[in-house]
Amino acid sequence: MPENVLEAVGLHRTYGSVRAVDDVSFALPEGGSLGIVGESGSGKTTTARIVVGLEQADAGEILVRGQARAARQRGRARRLARAREVQMVFQDPYLSLDPRTSVDQVLRETLRLHFPGTDHDRRVRELLDQVGLGTRAADARPRQLSGGQRQRVAIARALAVEPAVLVLDEAVAALDVSVQAQILNLLADIREETRIGYLFITHDLGVVRCVTDDVIVMRRGRVVEAGPTAEVLAAPRHPYTRLLLESVPRPGWDPEAIAAARRAL
Ligand SMILES: Nc1ncnc2c1ncn2[C@@H]1O[C@H](COP(=O)(O)OP(=O)(O)OP(=O)(O)O)[C@@H](O)[C@H]1O
Ligand SMILES: [Mg+2]
Repeated sequence: MPENVLEAVGLHRTYGSVRAVDDVSFALPEGGSLGIVGESGSGKTTTARIVVGLEQADAGEILVRGQARAARQRGRARRLARAREVQMVFQDPYLSLDPRTSVDQVLRETLRLHFPGTDHDRRVRELLDQVGLGTRAADARPRQLSGGQRQRVAIARALAVEPAVLVLDEAVAALDVSVQAQILNLLADIREETRIGYLFITHDLGVVRCVTDDVIVMRRGRVVEAGPTAEVLAAPRHPYTRLLLESVPRPGWDPEAIAAARRAL
């Protein structure tokens, strides 16, 4: 059995009367890829934010390589150490990239922060290469890049930190289908090379099928089904999962069909 690089145990988070995350547990094996699927508002992003430490859980625990993460980690060194464990890639990298900062500068800033006092020329080239961006992209500003290229920059910046886990929240949702496929392939290659574990959040079961080994299905903050992706998709046990699958117009799924089917559930 491979060691779990990430474990969530009994996570809870409420906002007023909304139970956004209601007793969520899962395990991500070293080098594995775990999908979280579920309709809008089911608690996927809240779970992700708890995992990366952007959000505080009301109860529950996050373990990285078997070690509990302190609930409140103060101080710069601690924050940096935590960032090196788990990195997040968001849906729209445009929002997280400074428009004035070139790709080269973005990567250098991250490297300087985490690995001060060393020369980063080679590492910058390596990272650009790893995400399939030529050295020509190095001088570009975010505005000059396509959505796919920007997402490659966001991935390179996350990799620069040498994390154990990447949390990808709808990381390809904003991209055209053909570009989605390129980024998904890239992510699969990177996982093979680096053995970084992925927590892959998506509403798209086609994406889940492509890039995850295991999947959990969330509904209203709860995990209603969990298992190997191939098994869950081939023979879903929970009616909600069946419903999600039935309402998938390939590729992706149609939220209106789901809403209609849900009312009938
Ligand atoms: N900061 C917040 N304050 C109040 N309510 C919140 C907050 N964040 C999330 N919620 C609520 O918690 C629930 C879960 O939201 P969450 O964003 O985790 O869902 P999601 O599965 O990521 O949805 P989507 O697929 O639309 O991204 C929703 O009902 C949402 O309105
Ligand atoms: Mg979300």
